[in-house]
Amino acid sequence: MSISHSDSVCPPMISSAPPRVPPTVAVIFGATGDLTHRKIIPAFYHLAKNNLLPEDFAIIGFARRPKSDDEFRQDLGEALQKFSHTQPVDDAVWKKLAAHIYYFQGELDDPEAYKSLAEKLKKLPESPKIGENYLFYLATSPNFFGTCAQNLAAAGLASKPGTRHRLIVEKPFGEDLKSAEELNRTLQSAFAEKDIFRIDHYLGKETVQNLIYFRFANAIYEPLWNRRYIDHVQITVAEQVGVEGRGGYYDHAGAARDMLQNHLFQLFTLTAMEPPASLDAESIRDEKVKVLRSIPTPSSDFLQKNVVRAQYGGGYIGGKGIPAYRQEEKVAHDSLTETFIAAQLEIDNWRWSGVPFYLRTGKALAAQFTEINIVFKRPPSVLFAASGDDRLRRNSLRIRIQPNEGISINFNAKVPSKAEAELVEMDFLYKSGFAHYLPEAYERLLVDALIGESTLFTRSDEVEQAWRLVDSIRDMWTKQSVRDLPLYACGSMGPVESDMLLERGGRHWIRPKEICK
Ligand SMILES: NC(=O)c1ccc[n+]([C@@H]2O[C@H](COP(=O)([O-])OP(=O)(O)OC[C@H]3O[C@@H](n4cnc5c(N)ncnc54)[C@H](OP(=O)(O)O)[C@@H]3O)[C@@H](O)[C@H]2O)c1
Repeated sequence: MSISHSDSVCPPMISSAPPRVPPTVAVIFGATGDLTHRKIIPAFYHLAKNNLLPEDFAIIGFARRPKSDDEFRQDLGEALQKFSHTQPVDDAVWKKLAAHIYYFQGELDDPEAYKSLAEKLKKLPESPKIGENYLFYLATSPNFFGTCAQNLAAAGLASKPGTRHRLIVEKPFGEDLKSAEELNRTLQSAFAEKDIFRIDHYLGKETVQNLIYFRFANAIYEPLWNRRYIDHVQITVAEQVGVEGRGGYYDHAGAARDMLQNHLFQLFTLTAMEPPASLDAESIRDEKVKVLRSIPTPSSDFLQKNVVRAQYGGGYIGGKGIPAYRQEEKVAHDSLTETFIAAQLEIDNWRWSGVPFYLRTGKALAAQFTEINIVFKRPPSVLFAASGDDRLRRNSLRIRIQPNEGISINFNAKVPSKAEAELVEMDFLYKSGFAHYLPEAYERLLVDALIGESTLFTRSDEVEQAWRLVDSIRDMWTKQSVRDLPLYACGSMGPVESDMLLERGGRHWIRPKEICK
């Protein structure tokens, strides 16, 4: 296959020129935490390595425990060795970046700390050349998001004309519609919406961005992308791990809030949206929101029939023992938190009316993978019925978001020397199709936030529409008053009820390659 490449490592969605990141001070709140170590610092390192950071750049880490700048740099260096996705770490690049990293000790709920931070920002050796260009990254527990934004505003660090003061907010964004609306109001009282970057790291994945190219840069698929030709769509985000020590957080969240509201809905809206007027942020985000708005709040009756929840029982995956969910650390022994959800949604618009979208996600499943399957209507079998082959199988498109990123098409072909058809696969693999460096999601997202490009971040109305739907499911569960949830075996693909959701329409979940092997 011949492919022409752009030179850029991490291009913005619509330009092939490398992005020009302006001189900036990035302030990471929660800088001694897991996310900073695991994702944020490795992402900054890779941007530096790929010459995507400007000469005038600095990072301040804000956290509670006492630490000198050198101790902080040392900790981050060790984390980088552990978590960098390219090895070995380039020592010269890291040393150069680390020389511009500083530590600030403060309490997130102490307004005075932000005033001292504002002073420190003015006095950094890099500040005269950088000016007031700040990127504030809230890598803290979500209950500090609002406080932090308000304290930044009180210290004169929120959005103001003539400056670039931007705010990145991690997930989870609220825990229901009401709290998300409140958080939006608080953030917007300090920062302009264009300066708020709500992270869903799925949008930073190349394969997710490719959905837009795949759908709208090809003439062969888009004409088929509607209810006339598509029978149904399946979207799966499967995790092989259990809650792994995060029981305290997870038991409050559950699969609907932790995964459906954000990652699954991102894949869903990009798959179902109409062609945007242009590739600018607002046009794309308008179309994504329209998909969610085209789903009227489902009734409890509809949801009872079309949503399945379950918990994992104990078992083994790959020889490793996993306790039953209720036996996990910090999980209530009578917990009704779902670790698996499958839902059938229907979009009430001209393109999709009558086409079921099946979304599922779960923990402790047979394999770790994310994929979208577009399943087409069965072709008429009239020509082949005489030879007994009267049930031609449906064509499908498998879009693999991770791992083995790529796309495959399944179609019927004649079996040699036989008068029958068999489904065969034509496969495109990202890593063999493109010899490019594939940036990690956080690299792409950081660059976009630094240049003020919002396409890959979730807008306030999108977050709220997603919560509206998730709230309707959770309200229905509250009314159900059950004492136990269905269990599924660790290492399976969820409970039998999830299979039945599709079987009643004569369908089945398409097995991922990971478990076909
Ligand atoms: N970890 C991940 O892979 C991941 C993935 C996706 C999203 N997230 C989200 O990212 C955020 C951070 O997660 P995390 O896993 O990094 O959490 P974490 O490991 O618990 O780190 C929390 C950070 O916040 C600081 N902190 C806590 N209370 C503080 C206070 N009162 N004043 C000042 N600093 C305070 C801690 O500093 P001290 O320890 O010095 O007190 C630490 O640096 C959360 O919203 C999480 O949902 C995390």
